[in-house]
Amino acid sequence: MSRRILVTGASGTVGRQVTAHLLEAGAEVRALTRGPADLESVHGDLSVPDSLHTAVQGVEAVFLVWPFASAEGLEAVLALAADHARQVVYLSSAAVRDHERQAEHLIERSGLEWTILRPHAFAANTLRWAEQIRAEGVVSGPYGEAAMSLVHERDIAAVAVRALTQDGHAGAVHELTGPHSLTQAEQVRVIGEAIGSPVRWAETSPDDARRQMLARGWPPEVVDGILEAQAEMTLAPSPVTTTVEEITARPARTFRSWAAEHAHAFRATT
Ligand SMILES: NC(=O)c1ccc[n+]([C@@H]2O[C@H](COP(=O)([O-])OP(=O)(O)OC[C@H]3O[C@@H](n4cnc5c(N)ncnc54)[C@H](OP(=O)(O)O)[C@@H]3O)[C@@H](O)[C@H]2O)c1
Repeated sequence: MSRRILVTGASGTVGRQVTAHLLEAGAEVRALTRGPADLESVHGDLSVPDSLHTAVQGVEAVFLVWPFASAEGLEAVLALAADHARQVVYLSSAAVRDHERQAEHLIERSGLEWTILRPHAFAANTLRWAEQIRAEGVVSGPYGEAAMSLVHERDIAAVAVRALTQDGHAGAVHELTGPHSLTQAEQVRVIGEAIGSPVRWAETSPDDARRQMLARGWPPEVVDGILEAQAEMTLAPSPVTTTVEEITARPARTFRSWAAEHAHAFRATT
């Protein structure tokens, strides 16, 4: 198999894995970067459509990460892609906030053959706790009982690669999760088991968490969105789907296996 595929977000959590899986599958990958291009990568900025002409030349498919809080500018990028490619696989989100919904509509109307991936929260999000865990063996936060079905980034990539290289995914919306729903307090406990040293969840108030996130410069609407979603997940755990296994023919990776692979990031260096 030798298809030329443009991977955007190629240095990111999912795009890096998509690139690796595609290369393993024998595809020709063009990795988009805002930095200087090298043998494997091509320069381009998704917020500047004119910078993408070289990137889209001769590609058959695009793995699209849209790392912005608005769909503005996407239509122009899709029009450019549609001049060259016939297919797009878009990394959306199970949260389907306004801009993601708008992006999905634009993709469905782009004239490209499309597949939409809607992953739930990434297992890699827990890396935000690494510093606290290394320093104190404690994670402080609100809504310890919020339960989410964290998905391993390699499973998202594995599904993306199937959609990019095999038939049967045109017009599909794939909702992707890990195999279990785990509360935040349970996630922290699993990380403790992976590093061989207990880690404790310390519940704080949502107001304190809000103040801290705002002090770090996070936009208020993002902070409120996160806290509202977590509050909801204390009442209704996020669901578990079987999509990863159905598409990749292997069980979705557990958070336990993700934590074991990433134990080094959480272990205190003495
Ligand atoms: N985290 C979650 O739980 C979650 C859940 C569901 C969906 N998602 C979605 O996943 C997406 C993020 O994916 P990720 O976590 O794999 O990415 P990531 O690790 O946050 O990395 C962002 C990527 O986007 C690239 N990028 C940023 N601005 C760019 C620009 N102007 N032009 C071209 N490339 C640009 C970066 O490349 P550079 O090397 O140039 O910086 C980088 O490769 C978001 O759309 C998010 O909504 C996330």
